[in-house]
Amino acid sequence: MTTTSMRTHQCGELRAEHIGQTVSLCGWVATRREHGEKLAFVDIRDHTGVTQAVVDNSVDVRAEYVVRVTGTVAARPGENLNDRLPTGAIELQDVVVEVLNAAEPPPFPINERADQVAEGTRLQYRYLDIRRERMQKNLRIRAAVNSAIRRSMEDQGFLEIETPMLVPSTPEGAREFIVPSRQQPGSFYALPQSPQLFKQLLMVAGIDRYYQIARCLRDEDLRADRQYEFMQLDAELSFGSQDDVFEAIGSAVVAAAEAAGQHAGEIVKITWHDAMNRFGIDKPDLRFGMELVDLTDVFATTGFKAFAGAAAIKGINATAKAEEYGRNKLDAMTDKAKKMGAKGLVWLKVAADGTLESPVAKFLSEGEQAAVKAALEAQPGDLLLIVADSWMTACEVLGTLRNDLGRPPVHEGPYRFVWVVDFPLFIGVDDVSGRPKPGHHPFTQPHPDDLHLLEIEPLKVRSQAYDLVFNGWELGSGSIRIHQPELQARIFGLLGISPEDADRRFGFFLNPFRYGAPPHGGFGLGIDRLVAILAGEENIREVIAFPKTQSGMDPMTNAPTPVDPKQLDDLGIRVLPPKA
Ligand code: AMO
Ligand code: AMP
Repeated sequence: MTTTSMRTHQCGELRAEHIGQTVSLCGWVATRREHGEKLAFVDIRDHTGVTQAVVDNSVDVRAEYVVRVTGTVAARPGENLNDRLPTGAIELQDVVVEVLNAAEPPPFPINERADQVAEGTRLQYRYLDIRRERMQKNLRIRAAVNSAIRRSMEDQGFLEIETPMLVPSTPEGAREFIVPSRQQPGSFYALPQSPQLFKQLLMVAGIDRYYQIARCLRDEDLRADRQYEFMQLDAELSFGSQDDVFEAIGSAVVAAAEAAGQHAGEIVKITWHDAMNRFGIDKPDLRFGMELVDLTDVFATTGFKAFAGAAAIKGINATAKAEEYGRNKLDAMTDKAKKMGAKGLVWLKVAADGTLESPVAKFLSEGEQAAVKAALEAQPGDLLLIVADSWMTACEVLGTLRNDLGRPPVHEGPYRFVWVVDFPLFIGVDDVSGRPKPGHHPFTQPHPDDLHLLEIEPLKVRSQAYDLVFNGWELGSGSIRIHQPELQARIFGLLGISPEDADRRFGFFLNPFRYGAPPHGGFGLGIDRLVAILAGEENIREVIAFPKTQSGMDPMTNAPTPVDPKQLDDLGIRVLPPKA
């Protein structure tokens, strides 16, 4: 704990061993309770905790006054002992109170009751919100995580380098924030979606191992796990494989969890194909079962027309959910499945005697019913859900239902980290151009074993792109990059980007690769998401000091605001009236 010239201790520090000492504390008045006619109990708070001071009732202090109290540490009388409070064995007596500053009554109580206050109000008075234990704890976890990440990356030989905030457009996929240039009216900078292009150029520059705790900006719709501005642990290394990246980032994540007083556990690895096949999603939540089971063989010769001839038939067992899911809920689930592209959803409830109850049970042979129950390890009370479709649709629909049915709140332990590897290089084909669409950015290295398929069966080509997933949240992504100009040209060709186009859009980035680019790869890890989960929060706003609301504004500063017309004039900008 830190003393300063104004205080000898902090408010959470004093214990029985300090009894008899004269001490000075500084902080805010948390509560004041009258004690008879002559005395009052005043709790003094700072970020370390509270200490009770017994003061003369005539002392004029109210909630949130800033005070310095000097007094003698004394044992609390038996009836006042509070073993729920670290300082609950002592109190200050013979107290002199100096008011350092008065305070108006706060708009909400500075304690856990403010959790019930509208978030807009909390953000409007964020400086009061942050005075609370919850926010103090979260911001301190955040600082500890950042510090542990820095130490880990430095111990592993990564060099911290800052990259610019005013950059050209980068092909990261989200909408960009743009900044007008005063010197070149009509030209704009972009704010970086990530340091992607610069960190790759640092590899060309021989930096070997780079990292940065980097601010990234994206003009996206905001959600619980998304802000316009967010922080990434951004890293890149040369002459390594994806396992080297996993080792580096994995060590930093383990250190971050430890710094937050948590345990990361083992980080397992799963291929994208297995993740889809078993969990129906590329960010599988491994904290619960209910895995997707392949039933295609079970219905190979079925007479049920919805299943006959389907490319893939898959099912999940929503264990013990039969009773909870009545007709309305099942209809809603079926609608959801259809909205996701399924032709339908079959549900079967396992009755007490083991028979299957479902409108479609009569279409399934006895053998099929027995085989389904065996494959899904069905017990009485279970709810079985089946989709017949393309492999992808069957997986995606059941993966969504699985999460709906079984997923615990994101921060609930035990933590399950997983590397998802071997993402496909392309996701589907563009309806208009007929060309494959890149899954990650177009600088991602294809899997070396699949290069021969690039032109013949592009959708079968795996990439060296990977994600880190934490309790079903995408925590970060990365890839081994293309460093060979010829291969890059081949990929651009497939995507329909002409050499002229490539030169115009990415020339500043690609030309340097002709001067000796080492093999390299890296990763971007969302620090806000990591800290939120480690702090037990479901929304990243709770671990950001000054976040934006869902509608992208800051109720404290009122940003964004109109600017002075003169400023716009200097920039050569005229603002059009809002579109009707
Ligand atoms: P990607 O775009 O997948 O990869 O981003 C990496 C991680 O950043 C976090 N993140 C966000 N967090 C909060 N709010 C947002 N709006 C937001 N957007 C992204 C997520 C995400 O997993 N340059 C590549 C990395 C690389 O290839 O090295 C990149 O930025 O946790
Ligand atoms: P239908 O033959 O279209 O009336 O469908 C009969 C039942 O099977 C309904 O409960 C549908 O929701 C379901 N169903 C239809 N097609 C599929 C499919 N491809 N996969 C799973 N269930 C289906």
